[in-house]
Amino acid sequence: MANHPLYDQVMKALGTVIEPELHKDLVTLNMVRDLSIEGDVAKFTIVLTTPACPLKDVIAGAARVAVTKVPGIRAIDVKWDANVPTDRRVHGRMNLPLRNILAVGSGKGGVGKTTVSVNLAVALALEGAKVGLMDADILTPNVPMMIGLQHGRPKVSDGKMVPFEVYGVKAISMGFLTDPDKPLILRGPMLHSAIRQFFQDVEWGDLDYMIVDLPPGTGDAPLSLAQSVPLTGAVVVSQPQDVAVGDALRSIAMYEELNVPILGVVENMAGDLFGSGGGEKLAKNKNVPFLGRIPLEAEVRKGGDYGRPVVLSMPDSAAAKAFRQLARDVAARVSVVQFQNADVIPLNVIG
Ligand SMILES: Nc1ncnc2c1ncn2[C@@H]1O[C@H](COP(=O)(O)OP(=O)(O)O)[C@@H](O)[C@H]1O
Ligand SMILES: [Mg+2]
Repeated sequence: MANHPLYDQVMKALGTVIEPELHKDLVTLNMVRDLSIEGDVAKFTIVLTTPACPLKDVIAGAARVAVTKVPGIRAIDVKWDANVPTDRRVHGRMNLPLRNILAVGSGKGGVGKTTVSVNLAVALALEGAKVGLMDADILTPNVPMMIGLQHGRPKVSDGKMVPFEVYGVKAISMGFLTDPDKPLILRGPMLHSAIRQFFQDVEWGDLDYMIVDLPPGTGDAPLSLAQSVPLTGAVVVSQPQDVAVGDALRSIAMYEELNVPILGVVENMAGDLFGSGGGEKLAKNKNVPFLGRIPLEAEVRKGGDYGRPVVLSMPDSAAAKAFRQLARDVAARVSVVQFQNADVIPLNVIG
């Protein structure tokens, strides 16, 4: 179809459409594929950097305006595809088919890290991404409860553990491997090797996003994680109150020290009880993105207790909508961070 008389003009028009977050045009970014012209309709596929792109409508709208300016073209027919950029450092270090590894951390416990991790993972999967969820909170592994997988042990195949797959997410947790009545105490080197094994000895397959739920604080676990694998970035969970914000501040400082990009701060449990605004203030002060607030809602806790995350159990609730938006914003931030990162494999060479 490249020999259609209007092909070059339509391509040129698409070359004026700027991707709003990467600030380059769709053609330069090699995002336009399979352009064909049938009658007065231009048909093409736009390959995004994430299936969870929050700006599809904006991009399609801008493409429509540009392309229908070509005389003879009246409409466009867009298909969407996604090719999540690969953090080459992940491939270089461990040779795992993981495209991006994201840590979810906080300064203290009980702020909702596991809740955010689980809902973020499921929400990304709902957008069509391939997602893994690693419970790196070895001492209090809460992921199994929150995704409804408290029983059973992972199978082993070819010497590797097979992660459980639930709600479209592949999950592994120390909670699957230990006896809940005999708590496991892991320190320093053992913790380090447990986290490494969760990467190397688990058959993850090809994943767009690996979400790592960390234990609270700035102790051994985030350090081990950052030393074991290159992290694409960290999502810091804070609560609206000042004390928690102070803890979150220390958490941000730690990631900065470890050279882990901060994807942003999410304020959890916003509402009457705790007020709101602390997370946003913190993000502003530290000059990191604010990823929004998740309201304090009983449904969120119930979703965790019953093992069906609120994004699935109550998809129309304000909290579920906030988690869905969070997932899109995190995915967009990953694309931007990857784009700025010289180590990233350019879009046009990944398969
Ligand atoms: N937005 C929210 N609304 C209501 N309850 C929440 C919310 N976020 C978390 N919770 C509840 O708060 C408790 C602590 O959350 P959790 O995710 O386990 O925190 P962390 O992993 O940081 O220790 C859990 O019972 C969880 O269900
Ligand atoms: Mg937790």
